[in-house]
Amino acid sequence: MPNRQKLTYHTIFLGAPGSGKGTAASRLGAYLRIPHISTGDMLRESVASSTDLGTRVKAVMEQGLLVNDEIMRELVKDRLQRADCRKGFILDGFPRTIAQGKALDEILAESHKRLDFVFVMEIEENALVRRLSNRRICPQCGRVYNLIGLKPRQEGLCDDHPVALIQREDDREETIRKRMTVYRENTLPLIEYYRNRYLIVTVNSDATIDKTVEVVVNTVLERDSTLRKKEEEV
Ligand code: AP5
Repeated sequence: MPNRQKLTYHTIFLGAPGSGKGTAASRLGAYLRIPHISTGDMLRESVASSTDLGTRVKAVMEQGLLVNDEIMRELVKDRLQRADCRKGFILDGFPRTIAQGKALDEILAESHKRLDFVFVMEIEENALVRRLSNRRICPQCGRVYNLIGLKPRQEGLCDDHPVALIQREDDREETIRKRMTVYRENTLPLIEYYRNRYLIVTVNSDATIDKTVEVVVNTVLERDSTLRKKEEEV
C-alpha cells in the first residue's frame, strides 16, 4: 500500500463584489472544517473596535477603494501562520491585485505550500447591485441575509440572535459602482495571472446558493478522488 499523501485545501475565491464569494467560502469552510478567512470581515472588525489598523483603513473602505497591498500582505501572512490553517484555508477577498497574488505565492512558498483551488465566481454586473443593496448582516455573528432570496424568519432580526440586522456602509449604490470599477481594474488582471498557472474553476453564481455550493464542493471531492486513485495505481 503506498504512503497516503496528506490532502490539503489551500483555496482562494475571486469574484466581483456580491458575486457570492463569502457565501460559498463559508459553506465550504464548514464542510471541510477549515477556516474561512474573509479579509473584508477582518478589516471591518478592526474598524468596529477602532484599532490602529481600523483607524487607518476606515475611510478607504467607506469609499470602496482598496487597502494598501503591504498592509494586506502582513494581515494575511499573520493569519495563515495560525495552527488552524495547517490542513488548509479558504481565503475570501484576498488576493485582489497582482501584487497580492505574488505576495500570497511567496507566503505559501516559505512553508512549501501551493494553492490547491482557485474559484472564480461569475455573475452579470446588473444582478450584483440588486444583491448587494438587499444584503443585510447580523452585527453580532456576521450571518449574511438577503431581502430578496435569503430573508430572516422575523423581519429585520437575526435568526440566531435578537439583534437588528444592519446594512454595510459600502453597500450603497454609489459605493457599489465604485467597488465594481476597482474590481475591473485590479482583480480582473489577477484572474489572468492565475489562468496561466493554475486550473481555475469558474462557478456560475447566478444559480441558487445551494447549486453554487454544490459545484464548489463537487470540485473538491473530484480532486480528492483523482489523487487517491493515482496513488492506488502507483
Ligand atoms: P469584502 O468584504 O471582501 O467585499 P467584496 O469583495 O466587495 O465582496 P462582498 O463581501 O461584498 O461580496 P461577496 O462576493 O462575499 O458576496 P456575498 O456572499 O456576501 O471587502 C470590503 C472592502 O474591504 C473592500 O472594498 C476593500 O476596501 C477592503 N478589502 C478587503 N480585502 C481587501 C484586499 N485583499 N485588498 C485591499 N482591500 C481589501 O453575497 C452577497 C449577497 O448576495 C448576500 O446577501 C447573499 O445572501 C446573496 N447571495 C450570495 N450568493 C447568492 C446566490 N447564488 N444567489 C442569490 N443570492 C446570493
